[in-house]
Amino acid sequence: MVALANRIQPDLTIVGPELPLMLGVVEEFTRRGWRTFGPTSAAAQLETSKSFAKEFLQRHHIPTAHYAICDSSEQVRDALPHFHTPIVIKADGLAAGKGVVIAKTKDEASTVANEMLSGRMLGEAGSRVVLEEFLEGDELSFLVVSDGERVAPLVAAQDHKRVGDGDTGGMGAYTTPTIIDDQMRDWLVAHIARPVVAGMKAEGAEYKGVLYCGLMMTARGPMVLEFNCRFGDPETQPVLMRLESDLLEAMEASIDGRTSDGDFKWSNDAAVCVVIASGGYPGAYEAGKKITGLEDAAKGEGVRVFHAGTSKRDDAFYTSGGRVLGVTARAAELETAVQRAYEACAKISFDGAHYRKDIAARALKKD
Ligand code: GLY
Repeated sequence: MVALANRIQPDLTIVGPELPLMLGVVEEFTRRGWRTFGPTSAAAQLETSKSFAKEFLQRHHIPTAHYAICDSSEQVRDALPHFHTPIVIKADGLAAGKGVVIAKTKDEASTVANEMLSGRMLGEAGSRVVLEEFLEGDELSFLVVSDGERVAPLVAAQDHKRVGDGDTGGMGAYTTPTIIDDQMRDWLVAHIARPVVAGMKAEGAEYKGVLYCGLMMTARGPMVLEFNCRFGDPETQPVLMRLESDLLEAMEASIDGRTSDGDFKWSNDAAVCVVIASGGYPGAYEAGKKITGLEDAAKGEGVRVFHAGTSKRDDAFYTSGGRVLGVTARAAELETAVQRAYEACAKISFDGAHYRKDIAARALKKD
């Protein structure tokens, strides 16, 4: 990457996925004088180490589930009596979204934790595990941009993480102006986002970039499930559909240390993203399937089709990943946005294509 950047001399680099963040692209580029948006690898530990995140939250009195960090089967055995079932087991390291298991019984929790610890399940990423109390409620994705000191909140969204219908990452997401009210947004800034940024600064790992707070809205109040140190996928697609100010300007402000609360202006529309995945995903899937209907789908009112796992050959698009397209639509009402997104999905086809049919369905029921 340094060799590439040397050649093209970038005006701005936005470091997206977690792996380049962990590998230290931000500090390496910044050291060489290239303007770079994102946290350093030390700050990105909030995502790259689940045990770091949990201990950090505890040190700074930020609400999160009860947990135990285990490096051995003996520690798992000793910790399990302190938990009620179900129990959440998380691999400490990065596991491409596959490092979390919800065990219904203590036996299952013990088996999964030991499989992770042995390295058989997830390799090095599972050499340490975090056992966690299972939280009930609605999930909420709350993202802010920070300059290391101040934060600018984005509108909140909800991700739909499983592949099958009927359950609430990453097969779809939605956002509406009423997903949380202003009072809740201010609470989340005051009690979660700002304390995280202040805590990281106090610990000498200033947090710049996007901080994604994955929350559970429980009866005991909002609690942190996880952090991502980047834009979330697929929340970002509908969130940015509602953005009316300049994202680039907010990124420049983060780099220059002049983030302010009002950096983002939003429309009062709702927006929905439905992910179309390859046949077999999240398991093994075949790539190279020809995609049709993209142009027709994109003509729908308020619709934008974001490419994720595609490649272009001779003016045609082919699948090249598990999560292929983020079909996103915006409208004044959530119901219309949902309808537009699904109408667009119906126009797109490729061999094995599948998507959830219930994105935002629970929110529509509540209205
Ligand atoms: N939506 C969760 C993630 O981006 O990891």
